[in-house]
Amino acid sequence: MVAAMAAAEVGDDQYGEDPTINRLQDRVAELLGKEMALWFPTGTMADQVALRALTRPGDDVIVSRESHVVWHEVGGGAVNAGVQFTEIGTAGVFTAAQFIAAIKPQDHFLYPGTSLVSVEDTHNRAGGVVFPAAEASAICEAAREHGINSFLDGARLWNAAVASGRSPMAVASPFDLVSVAMSKGLGAPGGSLLAGPRDLLPRLRRFRRMSGGAMRQIGSFGAAGLYALEHNLDRLAEDHANARHIADVLAGTRNARIDPTTVRTNVVVCHLREDGPDAAMVVARARERGVLLNALGPRTLRAVTHLDVSREACDRAAGLLAMVIDAGPGRAASGARSD
Ligand SMILES: Cc1ncc(COP(=O)(O)O)c(C=O)c1O
Repeated sequence: MVAAMAAAEVGDDQYGEDPTINRLQDRVAELLGKEMALWFPTGTMADQVALRALTRPGDDVIVSRESHVVWHEVGGGAVNAGVQFTEIGTAGVFTAAQFIAAIKPQDHFLYPGTSLVSVEDTHNRAGGVVFPAAEASAICEAAREHGINSFLDGARLWNAAVASGRSPMAVASPFDLVSVAMSKGLGAPGGSLLAGPRDLLPRLRRFRRMSGGAMRQIGSFGAAGLYALEHNLDRLAEDHANARHIADVLAGTRNARIDPTTVRTNVVVCHLREDGPDAAMVVARARERGVLLNALGPRTLRAVTHLDVSREACDRAAGLLAMVIDAGPGRAASGARSD
């Protein structure tokens, strides 16, 4: 990947003249079955621009509970798009019936009109949960009937596709606009794309520029993304198997609560019993032993597998984690991260 980045042909992407970014955009549009794709430096900027492009200030956006746009984007939806969020469903998913029940009418004197529904697939905080395909189709169909836009926060769409045996295009197909990440599981140093209808492009470019995200010679990121799509997509299944292995080991501990059969992708979320160490303590003790993971809450842990961590390393990490989780509670530590 580094060699491909070093050899990348570059141009000025603010003028649409970076040939390598253009190739990546075309490739992602083709893979997702959309008319166009536009590059962004980060997934958060892609999400924020999507919110802004598909809503008006004062609108309501219906999302899954604990979605990234609500929990991990420092309130950007309220600042950048001026929207409010309605969280529905459980464990990262919701049904078309729950969506329809939460819709508020548009252009009403009283209600914040619902103009967007956003699905996160896979769902980060729920533990890499894959959104059920039939429900996604029913939700997007209902959205169209109500004049509501649909967005897929697909930062981990590649994982959803590999885990469910569907093509990326099939996962993306119900949605008007879709985001994907070249970083995370695919291993590129950065870059996310929004893919959707061509007539949305001027609006997306405008808001990208307004967010400070229009860049110049970024072909090296394009080359990293193209390399990642070619070499690192199919191997995501290894990350999924490694995550499941970690979940199996944690399920055998006294203090962790986890159902390993729910771990289908590369995210492991487990809960800790009250009489054992808390999440901050486990994170700190694991870090001392070279195992990095997040505390999602006082008694909730998140571990993520990826291409830089081999099966053997995951096996060692699982053993160390199990030991730390089953150790005495001790004194609470601080400084746990949750991104
Ligand atoms: C579902 C989801 N959307 C968006 C993002 C944001 O991506 P980035 O870290 O590139 O801003 C993440 C990052 O973890 C994510 O999990």
